[in-house]
Amino acid sequence: MTNEDSQDMDAQTFLKKLEKIPDLPTLPNIVIKVNKLLQDPETSIKELGKTIETDQAMATKILRLVNSTFYGFRSKIRNIPHAIIILGFNNVRNALVSVAIIKTFSGKKTFEGFEMEDFWRHSVAVAVTSKYLSEQSSLDSPDDCFVAGLLHDIGKLVLCLHFTELFGLVWESAKEDGLSFYEAERKLSPVSHAQIGGYLAKKWQFPDSLVDSISNHHAIEESVSNLNQLIIVHTANTIANNHKGDSEINPDYSTIDPVARRIMSGQLETVSEWFPDVATEIESACEFFLKED
Ligand SMILES: [Fe+2]
Ligand SMILES: [Fe+2]
Repeated sequence: MTNEDSQDMDAQTFLKKLEKIPDLPTLPNIVIKVNKLLQDPETSIKELGKTIETDQAMATKILRLVNSTFYGFRSKIRNIPHAIIILGFNNVRNALVSVAIIKTFSGKKTFEGFEMEDFWRHSVAVAVTSKYLSEQSSLDSPDDCFVAGLLHDIGKLVLCLHFTELFGLVWESAKEDGLSFYEAERKLSPVSHAQIGGYLAKKWQFPDSLVDSISNHHAIEESVSNLNQLIIVHTANTIANNHKGDSEINPDYSTIDPVARRIMSGQLETVSEWFPDVATEIESACEFFLKED
């Protein structure tokens, strides 16, 4: 589609156009196959392991991930079936999804000034912070929260790649008017990157909790399938935006939803104590996820 007229569209028309884009990113085959296998309770470790190992590059990357300091296992995990035994089906799927999606978007040409690397750095920061918040609060599975954090802004990539002109308007306005991307988007775009990301996650048949966390990460919608996960991603996003590099002077948490602020109050009050360790973990996760093979 052309995007000249995107600005004047209403949300319905926008989403209809989105539906018709023929080359929207598709989920890599291996992820589709694994998701299918995991829907069948009869699937064995051997079967799942074999399927992942048909994609050697992916299998190698997953093994490197599970053996990295990120997971912190002392003994070496030798092969995919072994990883499944140690980590469980769901966590191996999460590792696969994380690696596969970054790969899906890598090398794509983006809007000038919008760096894919910066985008994924922010996404990894939110992923690691989400994982930490969920470990500390025991509100949800740390690995599920990691994936939700990693994908929360995925709609920005769709906007950037398929609605380039509209993306450019939002991008420039954010810069010129000193607004956040989301604020500029609310002024100029019929739908937000959060809604677009939610749409893509649904199309990819991701779990409802993940679709909800992506769709509502800027404005908490309380009637979602997993409010805890949404609260974690929403809070982690704000924390990550306030702690880039060493620019953490006067963090502004005013955009955190009151419900999230209440539930996460313990973690928010102590953020300056725990964030340095999380920042180190973000660095090593970026090193792993963003390094070309
Ligand atoms: Fe966002
Ligand atoms: Fe974000």
